[in-house]
Amino acid sequence: MGQSFSTCSSLGRSSKRTPEKEAKHDFFSDTTSGRASSSETASTTPNDGVEDGLRPFLAKAKGHYWYTTTGTKILDACGGAGVACIGHGRKDVMKAVASQMRRYSYTSYAHFRAQPVVELEEFLVESTGGKMQRVYLLCSGSEAVESSLKLAREYFLWVGQPQRVNFIARWESYHGASLGALSVGGHVARRAPFEPLLQQGRFGRISPCNPYRQRLTNPDGTVESDDQFVERKVAELEQEFQRLGPDTVCAVILEPVVGAALGCAPAVPGYLRAAKQVCDRHGALLILDEVMSGMGRTGSLHAWEQEGIVPDLQTIAKGFGGGYQPASALLVGHKIAGTMKKEGKVFTHGHTYQNHPVVAAAALKVQSIIRDDNLLENVRAQGELLGRLLKERIGEHPNVGDIRGRGLFWGIEFVRDKTTKQPFDPTLQIALQVYKTAMQEMRVLVYTGQGCAGNGKGDHIMIMPAYNISGKLVRELVERVAGAIERVFERY
Ligand SMILES: Cc1ncc(COP(=O)(O)O)c(C=O)c1O
Repeated sequence: MGQSFSTCSSLGRSSKRTPEKEAKHDFFSDTTSGRASSSETASTTPNDGVEDGLRPFLAKAKGHYWYTTTGTKILDACGGAGVACIGHGRKDVMKAVASQMRRYSYTSYAHFRAQPVVELEEFLVESTGGKMQRVYLLCSGSEAVESSLKLAREYFLWVGQPQRVNFIARWESYHGASLGALSVGGHVARRAPFEPLLQQGRFGRISPCNPYRQRLTNPDGTVESDDQFVERKVAELEQEFQRLGPDTVCAVILEPVVGAALGCAPAVPGYLRAAKQVCDRHGALLILDEVMSGMGRTGSLHAWEQEGIVPDLQTIAKGFGGGYQPASALLVGHKIAGTMKKEGKVFTHGHTYQNHPVVAAAALKVQSIIRDDNLLENVRAQGELLGRLLKERIGEHPNVGDIRGRGLFWGIEFVRDKTTKQPFDPTLQIALQVYKTAMQEMRVLVYTGQGCAGNGKGDHIMIMPAYNISGKLVRELVERVAGAIERVFERY
């Protein structure tokens, strides 16, 4: 889902902007007409932005709901961008943040050690069973990805392999908005305006692992098995290593479950293990980008725990701080961390807000809630229910091509033709229509994306509720989302 950027020039003074003025700048300000609401939580004012599919002004957020300034209550089925993993308005997190701010609200990481940062680092290392040994605490997924690329490169300088300058990534992946992260990512639409600025030569690219669109039929008429599929995909990775020169590759970067670019597509069983083997064979590193799929979203704290592999570098964000502070991190495995320790090497990198104590205090509290409330178990249980109910309720719909996901991370891909899997014309903006209808008529917020079918085509929505969702609310969520989908396709 895109967003417009707007600046506020009146910091500290009362803002003169109104919802109407805001609407003029809005990404969603097209001419789609709203329908009368069928929801009992309908707005008290007919035009508060929700009715037009615009971004309404938010008054508050609590638990699983957003509340606009005009009183509309919207069920949060996606945590914004897959962020609000323990729901909104938790007083215990606010208390932890305020308490840290009372002690000190900032310190430069170069001058002091901050207790919450140290505790958070210890928590993260311990959460991996010591497999990841070092942590850089940052503020955004893009920063974490940029850092991972740079650390991979610098590691090879330390070990005397300066010729390693290339990376391999996949189409239909997203690794962030900054130029390095955008260069390595394979999200066609998000790259397009900036193509001339992106690094062209250093990033080799392979196809995604997308069984819905790529699984072949064998000559004997049987469908390609997981093993055959993985073998074919990994042969393509091997080929890319050979094309670039195997000893020129720093790392392969992958999302274990692809988020915004592909709509919650888990890797086929065995794929990540096989990819890691190729990296190991050629002495390259494996970076797992768990910015969206990590920190419990797919049912284990780290998505790689379900894959039987350990990455060399791992990025986390989103559910890490649950939206209470902008928290991300780069986790470093033993190969690199060991070299740094043994050789006394220092990563030539840093950000002003690295190791921010308030960010650390918030992330620590969010993570302690996830652990103490046993929320990962709930993610697995409610995730299974969510997937099952989505498939039962709309799996047979003629325009629902695929429903896929893991944990509380589910994507629904829309197609014009269910048999041929033909995507819709991107200009119809089908996913956006579903988003708007969900918001306007069913009062539920979903995350949208385009490009999952390749070359910028293909529409999907993503369902990513908070980890503490109940079975009752999962049922309600499915009904609302299904209702929105049915209403949109009545029009096509
Ligand atoms: C897998 C992945 N990597 C990186 C990013 C970039 O994170 P941020 O938007 O916090 O910079 C995202 C954001 O959606 C993501 O999903």
